[in-house]
Amino acid sequence: MSVLSIVGARPQFVKAAVVGRALERAGIENMVVHSGQHYDDNMSDVFFRDLDMRAPDYELGVGSGSHARQTGETMMRLEPLCARIRPAAMLVYGDTNTTLAGALVAAKAGVRLAHVEAGLRSFDRSMPEEINRVLTDHVSRWLFCPTETAVRNLAGEGMTQGVHQVGDVMYDAVLWFRRKAGERGSDGGTTPVSPNGAYVLATIHRDFNADDPDRLRAIIGGLSACRYPVVLPAHPRLRKQIGAFRLEGGLAAGGIRMVEPVGYLEMARLEMRAAVLVTDSGGVQKEAFFHGLPCVTVRPNTEWPETVELGWNRLVGADAQEIATAVDAAAAPPVCGELAFPFGDGRAASRLAGILAREL
Ligand code: UD1
Ligand code: UDP
Repeated sequence: MSVLSIVGARPQFVKAAVVGRALERAGIENMVVHSGQHYDDNMSDVFFRDLDMRAPDYELGVGSGSHARQTGETMMRLEPLCARIRPAAMLVYGDTNTTLAGALVAAKAGVRLAHVEAGLRSFDRSMPEEINRVLTDHVSRWLFCPTETAVRNLAGEGMTQGVHQVGDVMYDAVLWFRRKAGERGSDGGTTPVSPNGAYVLATIHRDFNADDPDRLRAIIGGLSACRYPVVLPAHPRLRKQIGAFRLEGGLAAGGIRMVEPVGYLEMARLEMRAAVLVTDSGGVQKEAFFHGLPCVTVRPNTEWPETVELGWNRLVGADAQEIATAVDAAAAPPVCGELAFPFGDGRAASRLAGILAREL
């Protein structure tokens, strides 16, 4: 019994690492297809090393491009592979162009599809990820939801069959790798030095922030004005745009240390020791919550509303004053007990694998 896992962007390597391990334990052969959406060593290979994954079984080599080119090219290269292998099921993860391409190929080839991280909604259709999520959910046979909210979102769109609230596989990953990350000796030189050791960890990569010079200038202004030093592991899109808009001077003047993207373990280590996190990422908002780190999210909405409702995450506009004030004010909310942890028990992947093993 073999299944195909389709991955391509860095958050998907994290999810597929824990799911792959659980599938194998459940006696399911899992073959990994890498679309090539992310391809730099520090956006791709480092995750396979850090997460103890073997190299992908198939590499499609699609690379960067417009939404249509990236999605279409992935479909064109995946379809013949799928026809040759005839997997018992295909698994797609999250909400990237690789996710949607995998979902459409499976649906049209009549291969049953499992969506890992189903049911998330920001209710903002101007985000490409929201389109990818909605379409993928609607062609999936198994919808593996991280939270109760996700289950409700699917029910709101008429989807109740094949829906399983298994928990969050990224929480499984955090538990699995937390010790390893903490034990890692070298800090790779990324930890900022400050008198009391406090620093802000920031990641910005959304197109609407990184590709808009006014928003990007305001975000850098906000990070510069807060009272902590800032380390900014920069996604290639962000680095490119900071150069294009000539904003490097603002980084230096504001005490912001821009570094290359870091691997999963180094990121976990930075998250565990930071005072506040500033991000527009989906996964990083959640990891902040898992590590008990207050988060400031530079977005008008989030697909992880629980982090906001429970007081760990605050949404802010791309406004320098608003960002700096939110960062300086960020603090852990009062503890609300175990019930206030909506992301499962760290066994989401094995629950999911058990369901597939029974039903395939
Ligand atoms: C993609 C996903 C986004 C996810 C993010 C995770 C879509 C629509 N977007 O956004 O949901 O949050 O991945 O990080 O699928 N680049 C490189 N080297 C790489 C990869 C990218 O230089 O290894 C540069 C290229 O200039 C590329 C740009 O980054 O055009 C954007 O990459 P792309 O994969 O298209 O989108 P992301 O912003 O990474
Ligand atoms: N991440 C990482 N190094 C970085 C930035 C992010 O290892 O420099 C990890 C992060 O810890 C999380 C995942 O990448 O596990 C999230 O990816 P990203 O923010 O790119 O995508 P999103 O979750 O927004 O789709």
